[in-house]
Amino acid sequence: MRKSLSRRDWFKSTLALTAGVTLTSALTEHLMAAPMSEAERAYFDFGISATQKVRLNSNENPYGPSEKAKKAVIESLSRGNRYAFNELEELKKMIAGKEGVDASFVLIGAGSGELLVQTGIAYGLEGGRVLSAYPTFPLLMNYAQEMKATWDKVDLTEKLEHNYEALASAIKSDTRLVFSCNPNNPTGTVVSDAIVRGFCQEASKKTLVYADEAYLEFLELGQQESMVSLVQNNPNVVVSKTFSKIYGLAGLRIGYLVGHPDTLKKIAQYGDTISPSQTAIAAAKASLGDEDFMKLTREKNSIARKVLTDYLDQKKIFYGKSMTNVVLFPAPKDGKKILSQLDERGFLIRIWDYQGKEWCRVSIGTLDEMKNFVKAFDEAIA
Ligand SMILES: Cc1ncc(COP(=O)(O)O)c(C=O)c1O
Repeated sequence: MRKSLSRRDWFKSTLALTAGVTLTSALTEHLMAAPMSEAERAYFDFGISATQKVRLNSNENPYGPSEKAKKAVIESLSRGNRYAFNELEELKKMIAGKEGVDASFVLIGAGSGELLVQTGIAYGLEGGRVLSAYPTFPLLMNYAQEMKATWDKVDLTEKLEHNYEALASAIKSDTRLVFSCNPNNPTGTVVSDAIVRGFCQEASKKTLVYADEAYLEFLELGQQESMVSLVQNNPNVVVSKTFSKIYGLAGLRIGYLVGHPDTLKKIAQYGDTISPSQTAIAAAKASLGDEDFMKLTREKNSIARKVLTDYLDQKKIFYGKSMTNVVLFPAPKDGKKILSQLDERGFLIRIWDYQGKEWCRVSIGTLDEMKNFVKAFDEAIA
C-alpha cells in the first residue's frame, strides 16, 4: 500500500518542485521552534509523552487564554462552517488601529511562525545571505537556508545580548535580510530602544530588517518601544508580533506582520490567503490590547521568574538578564543527564548548543511550578 504523504513530505516535495532547490531531511527539524542540541537528539525520541510533564520548554503562557478569549472562541464555533473572510478583515482593521498604520500594512498568519517561514522562503529564494545574532529564534533563517541563502551568525555579547554594532558590520553587499529579535529568544535579554532603532534605520538602507517583537509586551508599559513606527515610510523594515506569548494563545495559532504593502505582497505569496481559523481570529479580537490580562501575565511571570533567578544567584550560575518568560544559563552538568533527570521528575526544558557549550533554556511557568522546578533541578545537577 502506498505510504500516505505527511504534511512535511508534501511541503518538501512541493517546494522542491516549485523552487527548484534541494531540500534536505534537516527541514523536518526546522519545523521545530528551535534547533535541537546534541543532548536532545541523544535523549529524546521526539514523540515524547509531553502531556503529563510541566512544560518549561516552549515559552508558553501558563495563564492564557484569557476568560474573554475563551468566551469569544466558544461563540465563534457556530461560524466554524464559514471561511473567516470578514472576520479576518475586521481583525486586520483592529490591529491597524492599534499599530497606527493602514490595514494594507498588516498581514495576519497562523502564528508569527508562519510569517517567519514565508519571509524565509521569499528572501531565501533570492540567494545571497541572511544575517542574525546567534543564538536566536532560527525559523526564518532555517527556511532561507533551505532555499538558496547562506546564514551569517553573529555571537551575542558576554551578557547574552544582541551585539548590534557587530551585526551592522556583518552586513555584506549580498545580505538580503537581517533578523533582529528584541527581546531575544532563547535569552530573554533586551537591548535599548535607541540602539535597536538606530540599527534598524541604518541597516534598512542596505537590506530588509525583520524585527521580531514576539516578547515585547513582557516589558513594562513605558518600555515597549516597537519598531512599527519605522515602517510607515520604509519598505525595508517589517515587524512581527504574536498572540502566542503575552496573550497565551500559542495553541490557537495567530500572529501578524506589519510592513509596507509591497514588502508584504512579496512575503504573502508563499502563504495561504486565509490561514487563521475562526476560533483563532475570535480569540485574537477578544485579546488584542487587553491590558488587564497582559498586566496579570507580566506580574505573575516576573514573580515566578525571580524564583529561578534567585536560585541561580544562590548557586552562582551565570544567566542572561531576562525580561521575558525564558532564561538561558550554562548547563552545570551534561545536558543529556539534566534532561533525563528532569524528565523523571516531571519537567521538560531545552538544552541549546552554543560556543561549544551546553546551555539550559528554561521557560517560566507558574509560581508553584517554578518552586518545584528549582528543587528538581537542584537534585538533577547534584
Ligand atoms: C522570538 C520568537 N518569534 C516567533 C515565535 C513564533 O511564535 P508563534 O508562531 O507562536 O507566533 C517564537 C516562538 O517561540 C519566538 O520565540
